[in-house]
Amino acid sequence: MEITKRIEERLEERTELHRKYVNPALAKVLQIIDYDVDYARGQGAYLYDRGGNRYLDFLGGYGVYQLGRSHPVLKKALHELIDLDRPNLIQMDCPILAGLLAERLTKMAGRSYPGLDAVFFTNSGAESVEGALKFARAATKRDRFVYLDHAFHGLTLGALSVNGSEHFRDGFGTLLPATPVPMNDLDALEGELAKKDVAAFIAEPIQGKGVYVPDDHFLPEAQKLCRKHGAVFIVDEVQAGLGRTGRFFGGEHWGLDPDIVTVSKALSGGYVPVGAVLLRREIHRKTFSGLERCVVHSNTFGQNELAMGAGLATLEVLESEGLIDNAAARGERFLSGLRAMKDRYEMLHDVRGAGLMVGIEFGPPKSLTLKAAWKALETMQAGLFAQLVVMGLMHDHRFLTQVSGHRVNIVKFLPPLIVTDGQVDDALNAIDQTLEKAHRLRGGLWDMGKELVKAALRK
Ligand SMILES: Cc1ncc(COP(=O)(O)O)c(C=O)c1O
Repeated sequence: MEITKRIEERLEERTELHRKYVNPALAKVLQIIDYDVDYARGQGAYLYDRGGNRYLDFLGGYGVYQLGRSHPVLKKALHELIDLDRPNLIQMDCPILAGLLAERLTKMAGRSYPGLDAVFFTNSGAESVEGALKFARAATKRDRFVYLDHAFHGLTLGALSVNGSEHFRDGFGTLLPATPVPMNDLDALEGELAKKDVAAFIAEPIQGKGVYVPDDHFLPEAQKLCRKHGAVFIVDEVQAGLGRTGRFFGGEHWGLDPDIVTVSKALSGGYVPVGAVLLRREIHRKTFSGLERCVVHSNTFGQNELAMGAGLATLEVLESEGLIDNAAARGERFLSGLRAMKDRYEMLHDVRGAGLMVGIEFGPPKSLTLKAAWKALETMQAGLFAQLVVMGLMHDHRFLTQVSGHRVNIVKFLPPLIVTDGQVDDALNAIDQTLEKAHRLRGGLWDMGKELVKAALRK
């Protein structure tokens, strides 16, 4: 089979194939919002379509492209591994690459989170969270979980039980016993933990959906409350981890010391699904409590060689290219450029984030003409303005971003950590011009809103 030939011969049918066999609703949405592009190549911070047009990618595959696309070190490691014909997935075996990745992960993690000396490998973020929840239950012999409003930890049933959005939970029946508390509300958290039936409190250091950043005191105090009431403290670093926020782990911003940490996304280098749960050995022992229970929690592909190789190469590049410092410096440039726009654009209500995990939130304008236009849009559908900004950025600037959550006016940016000052400035210019048009009711952005709703109704 010649895979290149197959792709070339049938690329034009891709939307039709998805409409027919995969997810027709998503295929339609992508066409409606102008995100239906024949991408042919990815390199660094850019995507290229079949016609050779270049797109700046700050969507980053939902946060997997820390190293940018097609990184040569990753490619070399993966090519080498395939060519070695190594025996993969023997299962009744202790594969060397899994051992090496576990060692490297715990060493790098140990600089910020000491005490996480055991690793369980998974295939995704959600599977890491599932594992973390199970480990916490086994360690505490308690059932219930506490999580934050707006939280996102994946969409499998366990992870969904600690999801802070009704939109995702609705329609999927009874979930695990779990209780939400508002971010920064320590009294509410202690109220739940004090009932002494909570296995774990799970939180993202910075929330992926909406880019909500907790107050400085919240997570350190939450950690103390977990200790006080015997609950496991799980920090979900699937999105904020591995340098994204300008630190190896997002929780480092507050000097956290969690009991369990979940990672995934960027560890893959953007190539092979991989995830890991990092945990204290004493918690690990409570699950794998004897020889008979040595695979009581396990999976088939968790330690597969390509995933482990991708993980090792990713950690190597993060360190050798100083990408975490780059994330901090470029992130500061991006955030301050966006903050400078706040005075000029009345609908830009908030700019927040850390490193290269950045969100901007829009809200109602004060001036009368804009007020009417905003109201008309929001009446059609909440969050439509942010969607129009995302569409304008793509349409006029070939700049990929995303609305961060369901029916919210928040746009999120997850650039690769290799991003340059020039690329950050290009992004800032694109955002500036798009907001300028929107605030002067120019350039058809508002008309696009009407068209968008019409198209959605038609389809
Ligand atoms: C913080 C966090 N946890 C878990 C997940 C789930 O990861 P996956 O999509 O790989 O299952 C995500 C995905 O966006 C995430 O952001």
